[in-house]
Amino acid sequence: MNKYEWPDNQPAAFICQRKWQETPNCVSVTLVADNQNSDTVFDFIPGQFITLGIEVEGKTEYRAYSLSSMPNQNELQLTIKRVDGGKVSNYIVDSLQEGQIVSVLKPAGEFHIGQPHGERIVLLSAGCGITPVMSMAKTLLSDKTDTTDIYFIHAATELEQVIYHQELLEMAASYERFHLDVMLENAQGSDYLEGRLTQAALKQYCSDIAERSAFLCGPVGFMAAMKENLQALGMNMDFFYQESFTPAESEQPKVVANDAENKAQALSQASVFVPAFGAQVEAKVGSALIDALEAAKVPVIAACRSGICGSCKCKVTKGEFTRTSTATLTQEELDQGFVLACSCQIESDVEVALS
Ligand code: FES
Repeated sequence: MNKYEWPDNQPAAFICQRKWQETPNCVSVTLVADNQNSDTVFDFIPGQFITLGIEVEGKTEYRAYSLSSMPNQNELQLTIKRVDGGKVSNYIVDSLQEGQIVSVLKPAGEFHIGQPHGERIVLLSAGCGITPVMSMAKTLLSDKTDTTDIYFIHAATELEQVIYHQELLEMAASYERFHLDVMLENAQGSDYLEGRLTQAALKQYCSDIAERSAFLCGPVGFMAAMKENLQALGMNMDFFYQESFTPAESEQPKVVANDAENKAQALSQASVFVPAFGAQVEAKVGSALIDALEAAKVPVIAACRSGICGSCKCKVTKGEFTRTSTATLTQEELDQGFVLACSCQIESDVEVALS
C-alpha cells in the first residue's frame, strides 16, 4: 500500500475513471491520479471533501465536493447532483466523460468522523448531503474493531431520489449496529414514512437520539431545521457537527460605517500588491482580499468562497487585515500571516504572496 502524496495547495491531475447514473438527478464518478501506481491509495478522514477543478466554457472552475468513498482505496468517489444554475455540477452530470482529466486539490474540512463522538451516533442527511455521512458509515462498519452504533436517517423527495438506496439496504441487512430510516416527501411506492423530519419523527425513528453524537449534512434550510430539532430534543451540542458553508463570524472588529470617521475609512481605498506577479490593484478598505487578487488577475483558486476548503490560502507579508475564517490554517501559519483570501478583509495597503 502506497499512500498518494498530495501536492500542497496545488491542483493535481486526476482522471475520471468511471461515471454512472446514481439517481435520475445524480451521477457518481470515480477519480484516480494521473500518475498513480496500482498499489496507490488515498488518505483522508471520512466526511472530508476535495476541491475539483474543471474546465467549463474555457475557464477552470473550482468547486468543493464531499467524498463518499472510504479512505485507503485506490480511487476517490463523488456523487454530484444537478442543481438549478449549477455551472460545474451540471457540467459534470451532463458532459464529463470517462477518461477526461480534471484537477483535484487535497482532501480538507473539519466535518469528519475524527471529531470526538460517543459510542452511539446519528448521521442525518438530505439529498446529496448523504455523501460525507455515507463515507463515515461505510468506514466505521468496515472496521472490525469499531463498535459504534450508527443511526442513519436520510430525507429525500421520493423513492427514486434516494442516493445509494440499495447499498444502504444491504448495510442495514448486514450490520446489527447500523439502523436505517428514510423520510420521503412523497412516499408513493415505498414503505417509508411520508412527510418532514420533525422533532416527533426523529424521536420516533431513534428514541435515544438526544443521547447520541450527531453529524448533519444537507441543504441549508434542512440543516437549520434539524439543528433546532436536535437542540429542542435536548442533544448535547458539544457533540453536534455539521457541514456548513457559512463562514464563521469575524472575531476582530470590522469597519462599520456608522459615523463620519468610520464612513471615511470604509470608503477609503487601499492598494493590494502581489510582488511575485508584479500585480497591483486598488480595493476598498474592508473588502475581501480574494476580490482584489482576482481583479489583479493573480492565479488564486477560490473553490468554496466561504473559508472552508483552504484553496485560497496565501500570505499577507505587509499591512493590516482581519480574518473571518481560519479553517485549515495551523497556528504556525496564522502566526506567519497566512490567510484565506476569501475570508480576509483588507484594512490597509497590503502586500501578498501566494503560498
Ligand atoms: S475559497 Fe475555500 S477557503 Fe477560500
